[in-house]
Amino acid sequence: MPGFIDEAVEQYAKEHSEAPDALLRELTEITYAQAKSPGMQVGPLEGAFLRMLVRLTHAKRILEVGTFTGYSALCMAEGLPADGELITCDRDEKVLPIAESFFRRSPHGHKIKIERGDARQTLAKLKGPFDLVFLDADKESYLDYYEKALPLLKTHGLIAADNTLWSGKVLNPQEESDHAVVRFNAHVAKDARVEKVVVTLRDGVTLAWKK
Ligand SMILES: C[S@@+](CC[C@H](N)C(=O)[O-])C[C@H]1O[C@@H](n2cnc3c(N)ncnc32)[C@H](O)[C@@H]1O
Repeated sequence: MPGFIDEAVEQYAKEHSEAPDALLRELTEITYAQAKSPGMQVGPLEGAFLRMLVRLTHAKRILEVGTFTGYSALCMAEGLPADGELITCDRDEKVLPIAESFFRRSPHGHKIKIERGDARQTLAKLKGPFDLVFLDADKESYLDYYEKALPLLKTHGLIAADNTLWSGKVLNPQEESDHAVVRFNAHVAKDARVEKVVVTLRDGVTLAWKK
């Protein structure tokens, strides 16, 4: 997601944050070499932020919507205790083998379980409670994911939704995905069930804390 936050400022922030380990750096290389749209990966700064969220919330059970090649899942799994669990959903069989191969190599990979198929159907059958939910799949379904995830979230659990500033396109929405993010943001903003903040990290991350 390049070009939204000043690149030099973002680089400075990365240099003064926890650096990705060798496995995450290799995953980035492989993703850029092999996957379409590698910029979908959350990357080192947001990855460190997500791991920090897991630690701060003492999450033991996490739901992720949007695995891709597994970067965010690996970051969050590292923040989990040894008996923690992260369920991650994706339907793209071209990228999931990459994620699986890195989960196998990570000392935290045993905490991660992949749910294959359309996440809208997966969420309808999952059982809660989860401590933390990370939404990072198709923007057109964000509202649906949010409404399905909220009942699965424990009281005082946290939803983090990625890309909620959508490269600034929320200010002048043109395409359907732009409008979907605008609708999602408006919905969360007036949702009295949660306390919320839009964090201007990378492409925007909304945190919604369930009251
Ligand atoms: C932005 S990427 C996720 C990036 C990932 N969190 C990371 O850090 O590498 C979005 C992913 O959502 C998946 N996706 C989109 N729509 C989906 C759906 N309806 N069901 C399941 N997965 C979906 C795509 O296949 C893609 O891999």
